[in-house]
Amino acid sequence: MKDKDYEDFVERLRAESDIVSIISQYVPLKKKGKNYWGCCPFHNEKSPSFSVTPDKGFFYCFGCQSGGNVFTFLMKMENMVFPEAVKLLANKLNIPVPEREKTEKERQIERERVTLFRANELARDFFYACLTKTNFAGGARKYLEHRGITQEAVKQFGLGFAPPAWDKLVNGLSTRGIQLETMIKAGLAAERNSGEGAYDRFRNRIMFPICDLRGRVVGFGGRVLDDSQPKYLNSPETLVFNKRHILFGLNLADKFIRETGQAIVVEGYMDVIAAHSAGVRNTVASLGTAFTLEQAKSLRSVHEIVFAYDSDAAGQNATLRALEIAKKLGITIKVIAIPDGKDPDEYIRKHGADAFKLLVTESLSLVEYSLRSSLQTIDYSTLEGKVAVVSKMIPVLASLDNAVEINEYITQTSEALSIDESSIRSELRKYLNIEKKDRIVNVGKDSSAVYLKNRQVSPTEQAEKTIIRFMCEDMSIIPYIEVQLTLEDIQDERRKKIMKSICNAYNMEKNITDISFQETLGEEAALEFSHIMLMDIQLTNMTQMVDDCIKKIRLFSLKKLYEEHRLRADELHRMGDSSFLQELAESQRINDEITKLHQS
Ligand code: UTP
Ligand code: MN
Repeated sequence: MKDKDYEDFVERLRAESDIVSIISQYVPLKKKGKNYWGCCPFHNEKSPSFSVTPDKGFFYCFGCQSGGNVFTFLMKMENMVFPEAVKLLANKLNIPVPEREKTEKERQIERERVTLFRANELARDFFYACLTKTNFAGGARKYLEHRGITQEAVKQFGLGFAPPAWDKLVNGLSTRGIQLETMIKAGLAAERNSGEGAYDRFRNRIMFPICDLRGRVVGFGGRVLDDSQPKYLNSPETLVFNKRHILFGLNLADKFIRETGQAIVVEGYMDVIAAHSAGVRNTVASLGTAFTLEQAKSLRSVHEIVFAYDSDAAGQNATLRALEIAKKLGITIKVIAIPDGKDPDEYIRKHGADAFKLLVTESLSLVEYSLRSSLQTIDYSTLEGKVAVVSKMIPVLASLDNAVEINEYITQTSEALSIDESSIRSELRKYLNIEKKDRIVNVGKDSSAVYLKNRQVSPTEQAEKTIIRFMCEDMSIIPYIEVQLTLEDIQDERRKKIMKSICNAYNMEKNITDISFQETLGEEAALEFSHIMLMDIQLTNMTQMVDDCIKKIRLFSLKKLYEEHRLRADELHRMGDSSFLQELAESQRINDEITKLHQS
């Protein structure tokens, strides 16, 4: 099928599918007003903030800010890529799927990926056979035994051994028909400096195959048997191995993560193996790198991530990143502080499986962890020390949404440092005002509570959203708006993009519900668009409202412009540049326009 036909097919699917009935297959929905509501399947909640608009075909969760169309929903829900979601939807609707004709480039990449997977798989089998069947792996087997790794674990994780030679794997794979070029592309072999031939990348190492969710081998980690460096050698990034996306052990842990809704994230290969062997099978490793958003997303529909990192620095680092990620995905973050600075593997070996399970159940919330680790690493007997602890705690406190919780931790922090609660409150207020302009903080002077409302939108922001919604509700007002506003008046990049796409769509007689329209938006703007489509707004008295919005948007934009010219004029004046007069005149002109607009 040609690209155009595929597009048409996707569009037909969208038009024939009823988003409410599709989503209802996963989430119970109830009608309220024009839209449907339910508890969000993408984050943990008890009261519904997930809504679906039947007529326009969007969903949006006001809790975790996820949203999109019927395809996005299936992609998220089933962890699929777009063509897979298309297939699934077609199946649900009993519409036969024509195969999309792939471009030559796509086909080539696909072929190459298949050969890399094949080479990796053969390499894994080769390493495994070396470890389990050959004499020269005696030392490696002893090493694993000494570290408490059982035969079952060796089998389960497909551990192996790379022989201490330069060409064993290269030769082995060659006889099985793998090209040298493929081995190099897979990161299994490295090209000789002479440019002729290649040699084994991994030598004399215990091999840990790294798999994707489906269990396909994407790369390897290889550990030395002694203290030499580097301790672990990992595959380079390849067409199938992207470190930011991969979690070691996920192929085995996924089932348990989905069962429990919880994932335990550790740092290393050995930690995963130890945890699984101890029966804590929802464990994965981020492989030494900082935990990424992509990795978090691959933990499908997880409610809670428990970090069990070794060192304090790594733990702290993880906490901060986790904060951002948690906020983005609506996941609860917990941290295990492992006693006596051990890593999970050492801890399990020393204290046993049950002790580790206990640590998991007793894991600390982010705030508790941050407080505890700050108190451990900072000397808070001095004033500077107290200030340092407070400034570490402020961003963490600010991330909480629950006033009761915030108060509790403010009390704990102030007690630990023997300082007054009010000083923490005022720091928090400052932080929220400066850093998080989009959040409203209400810290009553004599009230003991800090109330945080969820994202208060500014009037300009609201006006931008509203006008976009109006343009979609009634496209005939678009020409009028095009005359009154320019894209530069729109402050938010995503909304600028939406506005532009809507005008384009209108001029090309396309509909905003068309998938091809939504594709032009890109991920972030598409999400914002879903939000706008599910905003609760009055659609009566639209002409008056449109004018109000235009006025608000113009005023804000002009005031900003005015400020810019004023500042520029000041600067030029200071530098003794006479062209400041022009800037001043321009700012005056803008000011006049503002005055006029105010009077209108
Ligand atoms: P660690 O140094 O904590 O190793 O690195 P470990 O996992 O505890 O391994 P053992 O117990 O000494 O055998 C944690 C992770 O960081 C990555 C590896 O993924 C490792 O498991 N790492 C570490 C590397 O990639 N290269 C290195 O040289 C060291
Ligand atoms: Mn270790």
